Amino acid sequence: MHDSKASHTAYTVLQGVVHTGRNRRTKSLVSAGKLSACLNILNSSDEGRKRLRQLRNPVVSTGLMMLQRFLLPGIAVHYVTRKMVIEDIVKASIATGARQVVNIGAGFDTLMYELSRDLPDLTFIELDHPATAEQKRQAFVVDAPGNLHLHPVDLSVTSLIDALAQVSAFDANASSCFICEGVLMYLDPTDVERVFAALTQVTSGEVKFVFTATPDMHSPNTNATWLLKRHLHRLGEPLHWCIEKSKIKEFLATQSYALDQVTGGHEMQKKYLSPLTKAPVHLGEFVVACTPNKQE
Ligand SMILES: C[S@@+](CC[C@H](N)C(=O)[O-])C[C@H]1O[C@@H](n2cnc3c(N)ncnc32)[C@H](O)[C@@H]1O
Repeated sequence: MHDSKASHTAYTVLQGVVHTGRNRRTKSLVSAGKLSACLNILNSSDEGRKRLRQLRNPVVSTGLMMLQRFLLPGIAVHYVTRKMVIEDIVKASIATGARQVVNIGAGFDTLMYELSRDLPDLTFIELDHPATAEQKRQAFVVDAPGNLHLHPVDLSVTSLIDALAQVSAFDANASSCFICEGVLMYLDPTDVERVFAALTQVTSGEVKFVFTATPDMHSPNTNATWLLKRHLHRLGEPLHWCIEKSKIKEFLATQSYALDQVTGGHEMQKKYLSPLTKAPVHLGEFVVACTPNKQE
């Protein structure tokens, strides 16, 4: 993670969502509102505008898609379907009583922005590295809803507990849903465990935690290629925490959490992509929803 530059991978995810939302075969997966919010973010920075130009240029765009195919087949559509799974879980959590949603390492994801407009009585908080958070603030400076709070914090320096203590909108008694999408794999295993512990300490209310995880690059259960590993190292965002989907329940038990659901590439394909049978499915990341065990 570079200190002064907004996250390269956060831009890549956003670019993948826009590509999927503009592609003739896949555009039905991205709502007009989401696409517009994504374009707003990309249009507000030099790097974002560069990413848009890449998508508009047929030669560069085809080259990028070929590169993705070699690094991570099906990844652009996967970014969208993992967000669809997370959105369903967050909405179900709100329907059952969550009053605030906290996105840890929110990057350029637009779900908090979209929900904060639709649900003005709820609180939505995003935590991200200052360089990325500032870039996003500039995009939403004109029309950020009052219940959306973007908090810049370097979580490698400040603990999650201290970071949330700095956010006055965070209610330590409210039932909460926490999101950590495409982030835990970049943390050291001890920091991952700290996140699980912190979520049960920061609020006395009910907690739902939704996160994504990846198997090791060498796992037979991923179709990410060795080229990706080299690519992430080059970007300064290598993977540190990897886990098999089959081991997630066991891992959660060690953190005193219970598994609610785990959704991998095949399940996402079945649920959201059935009309796109020929689209390659990304198998290198799955979405997990879990709940802390009740204290005795
Ligand atoms: C792959 S991006 C994912 C972004 C977003 N969650 C999504 O899925 O669209 C990883 C995010 O983690 C954030 N991040 C990485 N290290 C961080 C740190 N030390 N403190 C705060 N945020 C960090 C990056 O800024 C980036 O936004």
